[in-house]
Amino acid sequence: MTIDKKTDRAQFATKLGVIATTVGSAVGLGNIWRFPYEAGSNGGGAFMLCYIFFIFVIGVPVICAEFMMGRGTRSNILGAYRKLSPNGKWYIAGYMGILASVVILSFYSVVAGWTLEYFTQSLLGGMEMSSASEYHEEFSNFSTDGVRPVVWTIVFLVVNYVILARGVTKGIEKMSNILMPLLFLLLLIFCINSLTLDKASAGLAFLFHPDFSKITPGMLLSAMGQAFFSLSLGLGCMTTYASYFSDKTRLGRSAVITAGLDTLVAMLAGVIIFPAVFSFGMSPQAGPTLVFEVLPAIFHSLPGGMVWSSLFFFLLVLASLTSTISMSEISIAFMVEEKGMKRRTATHVNTLIAMVFGTLCALSFGPLADVRIFGMTFFNAFDYLSSNILLPLGGMIASVFVGWFVDRKFIREQMTDSGTIRFRALGLIVFCLRYIAPTGIALVFLNSIGVL
Ligand code: PFF
Repeated sequence: MTIDKKTDRAQFATKLGVIATTVGSAVGLGNIWRFPYEAGSNGGGAFMLCYIFFIFVIGVPVICAEFMMGRGTRSNILGAYRKLSPNGKWYIAGYMGILASVVILSFYSVVAGWTLEYFTQSLLGGMEMSSASEYHEEFSNFSTDGVRPVVWTIVFLVVNYVILARGVTKGIEKMSNILMPLLFLLLLIFCINSLTLDKASAGLAFLFHPDFSKITPGMLLSAMGQAFFSLSLGLGCMTTYASYFSDKTRLGRSAVITAGLDTLVAMLAGVIIFPAVFSFGMSPQAGPTLVFEVLPAIFHSLPGGMVWSSLFFFLLVLASLTSTISMSEISIAFMVEEKGMKRRTATHVNTLIAMVFGTLCALSFGPLADVRIFGMTFFNAFDYLSSNILLPLGGMIASVFVGWFVDRKFIREQMTDSGTIRFRALGLIVFCLRYIAPTGIALVFLNSIGVL
């Protein structure tokens, strides 16, 4: 990242940096932890099909909208709405995005904390067990413990803090450049391994053969929520990152590459997990704990298992960091640019809030399991509120805003880099933003609350 002399704001140094960092934000626990458990709980193939539909038909146009808002205004999410509509009330959607970012950071850090525990346990040899049921027991002992998950959540947030306090930096860009390809390579190796397991075909059939009877209103909402969560979309993350893009970054192409790679990683995770679920006699419907029970069992079956396990969980911690850094940047950029806070103070505030809520989420598998909000634990309520409500709603507002209220000239300038490149899909993107994305999201919402 370099400093742009005209605007005095940071900018990504290279084209690869732009892609690696946006993909770094998109790829994380959402792909490797959340996608398999959501797909497993929602019927496999049918979920996958709907998920892909939401990614490309709604997700890609909405990423373009967020990119345009960010690069065109060089602002955080709230500033972007304010600059494009100085007298409107659209900026309220900016506050919603900031709220969503803090909510996600809180429960995301808990899962990143679990990953840290599994990384250290793999290093220390504490993950050698003999059967899949032992892995199940081990995870449930750990996650219901009143202390360890909290400690790891806080440790993770401290690491996140230290990176952030130094600025959106060379560090993130460099780390993403190396980390993403390495993680990808490791996933490919595990994929090949899973394909050799004895019930691999049952796992693949579960993931890729849609059973259309599984398409329900709740499942559609989950698939849409997963698409938004996985793309870091609907809360201003892509807007904030695009505000650091250079004038020459091709927005359309970057959006498609980000969505494509993100989906590929989710699919690889599915191909790793489901053959193993069926081969080891586990249930695909285990929920948020699924991956933490299946992956160790896979590593255990490999020669040199603990080395693979340490390496994988280490990379997963780093992939989580590139995501949490991006979601923290939403509220930090807001506090610095709109509220005039020092970067360091803003980072403190962001981290402290996440530590308090993160602790509640971490405890909601054990001591606070009986505390319910609308019938859900803290963890589940935070996850549901952000992924299934705030993000799609934020995406709907961004698409209506850019599709209907922003000047066409602005859209054309952003998507064609001020007329220097051709962008053939301009009409299609605007059509999706005006009609397809808002009605699609509204229909899924109405359907899920039983109005349709
Ligand atoms: N997309 C990230 C993942 O799949 O792990 C999660 C995420 C990052 C959500 C950044 C929201 C966000 F602003």
